[in-house]
Parts: sequence; C-alpha cells; structure tokens
Amino acid sequence: MTGSPDSPQTVKQQVSEGFAATAPGYDTTGTEFFSVMGDHLVAHARIPAGAWVLDVGCGKGAVSIPATRAAGPSGRVTGIDLAPVMLAHAEERARRAGVANVSFRVGDAEDPGTHPGWEPGSFDVVLAGNVVQFLPRPAHAVWRWRTLLTPPGRLGVSWSVAEDPRWVPVIAAFDTRMPEGITGFAGMLRRPPFASVDTFEAMLAGCGFHAPATVLHRVTMTYRTPEHWWEAARSQGPWAVAWRHLPSERLQAAQHDAFARLDALRAPDGTLTRTLTFACTVAYKNQP
Ligand SMILES: C[S@@+](CC[C@H](N)C(=O)[O-])C[C@H]1O[C@@H](n2cnc3c(N)ncnc32)[C@H](O)[C@@H]1O
Repeated sequence: MTGSPDSPQTVKQQVSEGFAATAPGYDTTGTEFFSVMGDHLVAHARIPAGAWVLDVGCGKGAVSIPATRAAGPSGRVTGIDLAPVMLAHAEERARRAGVANVSFRVGDAEDPGTHPGWEPGSFDVVLAGNVVQFLPRPAHAVWRWRTLLTPPGRLGVSWSVAEDPRWVPVIAAFDTRMPEGITGFAGMLRRPPFASVDTFEAMLAGCGFHAPATVLHRVTMTYRTPEHWWEAARSQGPWAVAWRHLPSERLQAAQHDAFARLDALRAPDGTLTRTLTFACTVAYKNQP
C-alpha cells in the first residue's frame, strides 16, 4: 500500500478491497435492496433514449443494467468500479439480462476522466448508485462528473439519508468499537455534506450543478433471523468500509451486543424488519 493511512488513494484502495472481499455475497442475500434502489435511480434520472451514460461505482450492475434498458438500442452505458471482481459479476449479470450496449471497466469514481479516450463532455448522464458516501472527496468527484457531462447533461445520485431508528443501537454496537482513526459505518454515511438533503444539494450547487431535486425512498428489508442480517451486513458496505477493521475480540463483543438488541426487535414469527431512507438526487450541468 502506498501513501499515508488517510490519503485519498489509500482510503480508495481500502474501500475497493473491502468491496472486493464482499463481492461473492454482495446483493445475493435475498434482501432485494440494490436492484430496487437501482430501478428508482434510473427512473428519477429520466434517461433519454440514445443517451451515453456513465455509471460510477457500478458494483454488480444494479444501476447499469436498468440504465441500459432506458437508454435503448442507440444508447451506450459504461460502468466503472475499482473492484475487478465486481465488474466480472456485472458482465455476467448483463449477459444473463440480455442487455447489449453496456460495458464495464476498472475505473475510479472520483476521477473517471483520467481514462484515455474520455474527453470532457462525453456523457449525457452520470449515475452514482450508493457510492458517493464511500468516496474520500465527494465534492472533488462531483466536479469531475460535471466535467464529463455534455450540456445539458444530468447527474443522478442515490445515497443513504437515515437509518431505521430502532436499528441505531445495533449499528452503534460495532461503530463504537472501531479502532482509533477508523470511522464507523454511520459516521461515514453522515459526514458532511451528507448530514441532510439541503447540505447535499448545496454541495452539488457549489460544484456548478443546477436545479438539484431530491426524492426520498423508504426501503424495508426483512431478515429471517439476526444471523441472516449478519450475513447481509458482511456482504455490504458496513463490512466493506468499516467493520472488517475490527479486531476479532471487539467484533465478537459487538456481534454479541447487536444480537441481544436484535432479539428484542424480532416479530412473533422471528423475523426482523429494517426501514432505511434513501435519496435519489438529480441535478443538471446547465439550467434546465
Ligand atoms: C454499495 S456498492 C454500490 C454498487 C452499485 N452502484 C449498486 O447500486 O449496487 C459501492 C461500489 O462502489 C465501488 N467503489 C467504491 N469506491 C470506488 C471508487 N473510488 N471508484 C470506483 N468504484 C468505487 C465499490 O467497489 C462497490 O462496488
């Protein structure tokens, strides 16, 4: 690893290694989250037929695949991600979905424009599904995305706004045990400019975007058991960006606390529900 522990390069390398480690189980634990959010983001972005679309931090293609359908046969979608293993899954999913006009390549969401052949103004739409909160320099990324857009191009971003209040202590069981200097999961999601819709939209405006508009979505996930939740958490952001850094004794203590809290939240049939609030924010390179 190169660079200081909190340099953007090091943070990005850690985050992509974390997501690469989660890739086998990512989006396959039966909680129907990423595909639902991907569909919402694509619907809000109102992708014109024939559009050239860049999907940054594409993961397994939850946004890229519906975006390809929306752009139609004359459109073109490129998904980029720092984790090659995610891209291999995305390619396989696109093949199984029967969508053409989509390609995937390794690339940095924060600096996608460094790829050869991508001139400023190459894309009609830039999409970022649940990735902006994992970038060390979100505003830097947003500036870069704006450069890549052709007027009057649009940006569509989905991001996490609020945890289910009943689950806050469950997440805190892990976050409060993080080693010094490593941000917990909730802390990463709520840092500026993600404290509120207003602060996020103000950041977009500060980067030159116009008419930002946000729609909130509440997504309810059902877990069969606390163990099912844990399987999902280990295959997603909490593990990838935060909890995998917990030393094993602290991890065990956190899991013990969390499971005790989850037992108290179980419905009579033993299941657990968790309602997360997500935002889809769309903004324009020029005044629409
Ligand atoms: C929570 S997943 C979201 C994936 C996908 N957009 C979706 O909606 O399912 C975040 C993804 O962003 C990728 N990622 C994180 N930081 C990145 C960066 N700097 N550049 C490119 N990809 C990044 C991770 O590898 C992971 O695949």
